[in-house]
Amino acid sequence: MKKFSIVVAGGGSTFTPGIVLMLLDNLDRFPIRQIKFYDNNEERQKQVADACEILLKEKAPEINFVATTDPETAFTDVDFVMAHIRVGLYAMREKDEKIPLKYGVVGQETCGPGGIAYGMRSIGGVLEILDYMEKYSPDAWMLNYSNPAAIVAEATRKLRPNSKIINICDMPVGIEERMARAVGLNSRKDMVVRYYGLNHFGWWTDIRDKEGNDLMPKIKEHVAQYGYSLQNEIEESQHLDESWMHTFAKAREVYAVDPDTLPNTYLKYYFYPQDEVAHSNPDYTRANEVMAGREKHVFGECNAIAARGNTEGTTLEIDEHASYIVDLARAIAYNTHERMLLIVPNNGAIVNFDETAMVEVPCIVGSNGPEPLTQGKIPQFQKGLMEQQVSVEKLVVEAWVEGSYQKLWQALTLSRIVPNARVAKQLLDDLIEANQEFWPELN
Ligand code: NAD
Ligand code: G6P
Ligand code: MN
Repeated sequence: MKKFSIVVAGGGSTFTPGIVLMLLDNLDRFPIRQIKFYDNNEERQKQVADACEILLKEKAPEINFVATTDPETAFTDVDFVMAHIRVGLYAMREKDEKIPLKYGVVGQETCGPGGIAYGMRSIGGVLEILDYMEKYSPDAWMLNYSNPAAIVAEATRKLRPNSKIINICDMPVGIEERMARAVGLNSRKDMVVRYYGLNHFGWWTDIRDKEGNDLMPKIKEHVAQYGYSLQNEIEESQHLDESWMHTFAKAREVYAVDPDTLPNTYLKYYFYPQDEVAHSNPDYTRANEVMAGREKHVFGECNAIAARGNTEGTTLEIDEHASYIVDLARAIAYNTHERMLLIVPNNGAIVNFDETAMVEVPCIVGSNGPEPLTQGKIPQFQKGLMEQQVSVEKLVVEAWVEGSYQKLWQALTLSRIVPNARVAKQLLDDLIEANQEFWPELN
């Protein structure tokens, strides 16, 4: 059986150890001969790499391990690039969240002004990695989950239309896991879903079990009462912090706006922006929570493993939910035709929507990539929201390509979360100042 070579781009990510453990746990389904880490921050990556090298020696010494900041070493001889980079690190995420809050506007990693600012940083970083892959391993596939996925996906569609990149998000995976538990199923894989939207901006329209029984009524009953909160929390979930519990509970109010569908959690920022601002602490945002929580834990554990020389007693855990990445790699490698939600060019999958939009819909994935499944026509409410949001995303990419101040101002003005053009301009000027090191020059 063929064994695969993969490179994790963003080797210094807080998610890297959990993904390596997940890959090791899945070796029988997806055999690996080589794992490489690539990052542009040598010091950050080294801490994670030193620990993962020890881990690999213990659990799978036959796997060749390389950690590097040299693109040629990283991207030569690989089958898959698994990319989770964060251009600007948490220091910039913190600014994306805090600058809007100064104006009473939602400050969030991927939504509104924060997402737009992050998009303007991320596009160049993701394109660079894609170009390295195509230069050194032209047959490889890039599985990208670097955020903001909606903007990054639009940029790669527009600028690298023939590249083998698939953009994927784990939020539907996480929500479906909760839906499954809510109706007493063991796993989201016992469900077949219909869904449409943009990334972090979509709706389920149909959910059935494997026998074809409609699960929507029972799930809706749960969501109408509890949102996506569960009586018995999923212990191995990535989304356990207090702020996530608030998000899952808030889905109740998001659902109420359109009880025909079940919503993605991220819609709360667009439907109830004032509530989110009121609930935020402008001096301590999610970035601070993540730095004090996940980052501290992961790097603390990695450094302890390196100092000890073994992984005994480590609290680093398998990121089991990340096994959707293995499902995707397998679908391509073995032509499994697995059905998965992916971010792909619309091309008529949503019949009454811009065919050039990057949409999130169920796809059948095989060795030639994803084939989107038609979701039919969407209602006026969702269409109106999506037209506005996709225009924001497209304007950001145009602004990045053209270096256009005007277009970025328009993007911010169009965002549902920003109250008016004047605030949009103030935000833009602050964000330009904060992102000097990362954004193209705007004129
Ligand atoms: P992190 O800051 O811990 O890790 C990101 C790493 O990327 C850092 O080590 C950084 O040095 C590196 N990096 C930045 N720019 C780079 C470049 N140009 N080339 C190579 N490496 C670069 O961040 P994290 O919280 O672990 O998240 C990583 C990414 O994964 C983020 O983009 C996050 O939004 C994304 N994410 C996406 C999903 C999803 O659903 N799609 C889920 C979870 C996380
Ligand atoms: C979900 C989203 C990701 C996002 C993450 C943020 O999983 O799908 O796109 O990056 O949440 O989580 P964090 O713990 O970093 O706030
Ligand atoms: Mn996501």
